[in-house]
Amino acid sequence: MSMNDLLTIALSKGRIFKETLPLLAQAGIEPVDDPETSRKLILDTNQADIKLVIIRATDVPTYVEYGAADVGVAGKDVLMEHGGNGLYEPVDLGIAKCRLMVAGPENPHNERRRLRIATKFVNSTRQYYADRREQVEIIKLYGSMELAPLVGLADLIVDVVDTGNTLKANGLVPLEHIADISSRLVVNKAAMKMKHERINRLIAQLRAACGSQ
Ligand code: ATP
Ligand code: PRP
Repeated sequence: MSMNDLLTIALSKGRIFKETLPLLAQAGIEPVDDPETSRKLILDTNQADIKLVIIRATDVPTYVEYGAADVGVAGKDVLMEHGGNGLYEPVDLGIAKCRLMVAGPENPHNERRRLRIATKFVNSTRQYYADRREQVEIIKLYGSMELAPLVGLADLIVDVVDTGNTLKANGLVPLEHIADISSRLVVNKAAMKMKHERINRLIAQLRAACGSQ
């Protein structure tokens, strides 16, 4: 088998892997190992020409952009933050649905001139406030954003919200809706040309599987 026949799919562990698995199964693709228990980062599947690479959610667009993976599954939040260069986004898989939101205390009081916003979505946050002509100070965090307003690190946060339970548990409320989020199939542009038959087949199978034909 030549490299041109091999298709590499980038996935992250956890939510995306769990929710993509049934869609891949409907496309006839089943991993041989379980990434939650295996230490392997490259997983064989029941199809000799398809391999899965297991990486951090935020790294999926990078692997696909550089062609280290031909296709991948990534949240729209991650894609917005990445910028989407060099990527096609042919299928909204309709999984891992949530909303990117501004959140904070119910009655935010801020004596500072500029609001401080803690987030891991620095680019999306900068864009959101720039569009509104609001000058804010953005503090980059890598997780547990909900803590920041509780300890005075920031006035508000920008994070993904699903049930709202995490906000509620920390005495915060959703304040402004930035974007609806779901996970997308992303495809490397060169791979789309070189392997178009195999990738188009996968696209059609995934569209059928998630009911978005
Ligand atoms: P990492 O911790 O590896 O940097 P992550 O924590 O963002 O990544 P996941 O929690 O697996 O990774 O989330 C993957 C994607 O699922 C996110 O990019 C987002 O699109 C979506 N997502 C995140 N949180 C939720 C949630 N609570 N409900 C539904 N979808 C979510
Ligand atoms: C995400 C996000 C919020 C939470 C929102 O975290 O950063 O903290 O989910 O979901 P909710 O509105 O339903 O509470 P994370 O990926 O850590 O969530 P997880 O704990 O479900 O993995």
